[in-house]
Amino acid sequence: MKRISRKDFLINFSSVFGGAYTSMLALGMIKSAPSYQFKLDKNSENATVIILGAGLTGLTVAYELKKLGYNCVVLEARDRIGGRCWSVRRGDKHAESNNKDQISNFDSGLYFNAGPSRIPHHHQLTMQYCKELGVPLEVYNNINQAAFFYSEGNGALTNKRIRKREIQYDIKGYMSELLAKAINQDNLDMPMSQDDIIQIIDYLKAEGALNTENKYLSSSRRGYAIKPSVSQGKVSEPYHLNDIISSGFMKPDFYNVPEYTYELQMTMFQPIGGMDKIAYKIADQINHDIKLNTEITSIKNTENGVSILYKNKDEENLIEGDYCICTIPLSVLSYINSNFSATTRRAIDYASYNKTGKIGLQFKRRFWEEDDGIYGGITNTNNQIQQIFYPSNNYQSDKGILIGYYNFGEYALELSKLSHKEREDFALKKGALIHPQYEDEFEKSFSISWDKTTYSLGGWAQYNSTSRQEIYNILRIPDKNVYFAGEHMTYLNAWMAGSFESARTVVSELHSRVTGQRFEYPISK
Ligand code: ALA
Repeated sequence: MKRISRKDFLINFSSVFGGAYTSMLALGMIKSAPSYQFKLDKNSENATVIILGAGLTGLTVAYELKKLGYNCVVLEARDRIGGRCWSVRRGDKHAESNNKDQISNFDSGLYFNAGPSRIPHHHQLTMQYCKELGVPLEVYNNINQAAFFYSEGNGALTNKRIRKREIQYDIKGYMSELLAKAINQDNLDMPMSQDDIIQIIDYLKAEGALNTENKYLSSSRRGYAIKPSVSQGKVSEPYHLNDIISSGFMKPDFYNVPEYTYELQMTMFQPIGGMDKIAYKIADQINHDIKLNTEITSIKNTENGVSILYKNKDEENLIEGDYCICTIPLSVLSYINSNFSATTRRAIDYASYNKTGKIGLQFKRRFWEEDDGIYGGITNTNNQIQQIFYPSNNYQSDKGILIGYYNFGEYALELSKLSHKEREDFALKKGALIHPQYEDEFEKSFSISWDKTTYSLGGWAQYNSTSRQEIYNILRIPDKNVYFAGEHMTYLNAWMAGSFESARTVVSELHSRVTGQRFEYPISK
């Protein structure tokens, strides 16, 4: 019989009910970064820094460098700031490589976040910048057990929408029952005292809502067949475990739900009025140093600095400076001329970006709230749309935009090949399986495929252990006078926190070089 230690037991247990990392945090073994205003000693030696890209990283770099007295110019290819941090509103334009340009005709006042849409409470630097810049936040409801699971397939529970709470609490119940049975039958030869076992069984009883015989029969947690009012309610019947399994609800499409992921645990936040409020607040501090519509065509190290060529209204221009901080995504940088070393070039060219897409669907009526009682949160499916996100703002107002799909990898690739109209049709067809109200209530859409989006060419950087060595570690070192920064230069890929952390890191490194002093980031306290 296999002996397992208490530690192994905890690790195995947490991989069923959460993640090892989450457990370590809970046990206080990992600390999150402190937040503070960034204050280095001011002394820029009058250096000029050319910053490529007015996404969150470029803007933050300029904001911090200007505090230190540097001369900064931010060159941005788009006609707007923010990069992927973008809230789509009426009149916004969007270009993709294989599609007609799109102009949003959402009603005024409505928007959806096409890029980042949620801030983890432990991304303290993101929270710090929102505070420092005066960006008001509201709670983003990432976890909503009233939202649905929808499994397309052949099992008994497929092709119908099922409230998350029903599946989740049934699974918890059955798993707790199984574990209680295994422990009680002394099947686990654990070095545990009788008292430990009693505590675990008691815990499982509570966790799984088991009865006195340690069986899961049902629980009001999964909801009611008849809701209580002046008369007593009736708890709904649980699904059978074999139907749950055969219908695919124990596959990653459904179990990889937000609360299992450290970054997606509540409390999460969003800026009131759109995520790009953060970008605009930073830009307010540095406005006259940002040049829009400047597409970079060449980046060259010179003997004493850098020389950058850019196109503006089809005219080629040259700008020179002492240093360059390049925040252009590697997927785009790969197409730009440079005289970087062969090692740097190779690292840039081999970088990998994930595929992801979203569609915003505007509806006449917030039927998900009015008819289904869903206020924020996410519905999950195992088909190409993968997720429907309900807005966490303006509850109970008249109209609303929900995110009709937010998908990744192969599914995102499939939809990226479609025209905007075909994507809309697809999102409506699949979404109507879950919300038949789509048919009567739909008004307008706006879709985005990040891997096809000009000046982005990908959702976010993706690394494995080899590419950390062969790409990331190479680009962490400046190529002479050019520094690389962005979410791709962190371990916080896909998060705005990556932009902020990278911005502070590169500012510290450059400032150390310019002043000959040692400024470390993160600052050890
Ligand atoms: N940060 C990305 C999200 O929130 C991955 O979905």
